[in-house]
Amino acid sequence: MKRAFGDVTARACANIALAKYWGKADVKKNIPAVPSVSLTLDQLVTETRVRFDSKLAEDVVRLDGRRATADEKDRVVKMLNTIRRQAGLRARAHVASHNHFPTAAGLASSASGFAALAASASAAAGLRSSPRKLSALARASSASAARSIFGGFAELPAGVRGQDDLYARPIATPDHWNVRLVIAVTERGTKKVGSTEGMERSRKTSPFYDAWVTDAPKWARQIKRAIKTRDLDTLGAAMERSTLAFHCCAMTSDPPIIYWAPATLAAMATVRGLRERGTSAWATMDAGPHVKALCGVGDAMRVRQALDRTPGVTRTWVAKPGPAVEVEVRP
Ligand code: DP6
Repeated sequence: MKRAFGDVTARACANIALAKYWGKADVKKNIPAVPSVSLTLDQLVTETRVRFDSKLAEDVVRLDGRRATADEKDRVVKMLNTIRRQAGLRARAHVASHNHFPTAAGLASSASGFAALAASASAAAGLRSSPRKLSALARASSASAARSIFGGFAELPAGVRGQDDLYARPIATPDHWNVRLVIAVTERGTKKVGSTEGMERSRKTSPFYDAWVTDAPKWARQIKRAIKTRDLDTLGAAMERSTLAFHCCAMTSDPPIIYWAPATLAAMATVRGLRERGTSAWATMDAGPHVKALCGVGDAMRVRQALDRTPGVTRTWVAKPGPAVEVEVRP
């Protein structure tokens, strides 16, 4: 019997970790060893269209108009296989994904990419998955993607070895708090060491990894509370501790992983200088050299101008809290 499949497009936004995820309790199942808290960002959107087709001999994956590399395709097919198992389906799929990121924003797109794929492919396979289920599915491919299923502020708890069902939860909707994230791009080029590899090297070789895993939940709790009470100074201070502690693990790995460029330190100094002059702005960095400064809506232009003037900063961008994943089914 022929089965009718849906033609589905999903849109998901990238997110920034305020409390960082760094380190896995289970590598194979992709379970984080620490809790993380995030802010989903508007405008940094991945749009993914999926259609299952019983006439296809294999999955066809296109990213930004080109054929996916073997590694990229493997990660997509792995998620599609999970969905096929859940839906009792054998058909292969057409997948086309586009990143609508500001030119040269220099930001990773795996969070928005796997969130959009989880939502579009599940719906195209006829599954009616809850946001929790989509989040767990996205997490298995890239843990930060679990948080991009939700808009505004979200958290992903730590898990334990052997766990299958770990998902993110919403903390507050985008309209809860009108903060801004000023993104300062410091350098061109892709990151030198991928997050999975960096986390594993940190776990195996950094003398500070255990201390990071012990202390990370404290910062996540402080950040969560500060979101609820809209306390930017408390949030910012805990956010900076979290990012510096995870970078410390990476830097003290063997061989060391140094994600920063000279302009990263210059931009951090700019943010500190703003604070000394009375502006509540706070810096965070991921597995790359760019600096993201969190501040109130009224300070965003001042923070952006200061970062624009910082030597080595090539471009800036202002993002605000963004929506949850959205799905559109074509007739
Ligand atoms: C530094 O989610 O990319 O951005 O689960 O291995 O795909 P995998 O890692 P990924 O790691 C993100 C690391 C981070 C911090 C964060 O987003 O929490």
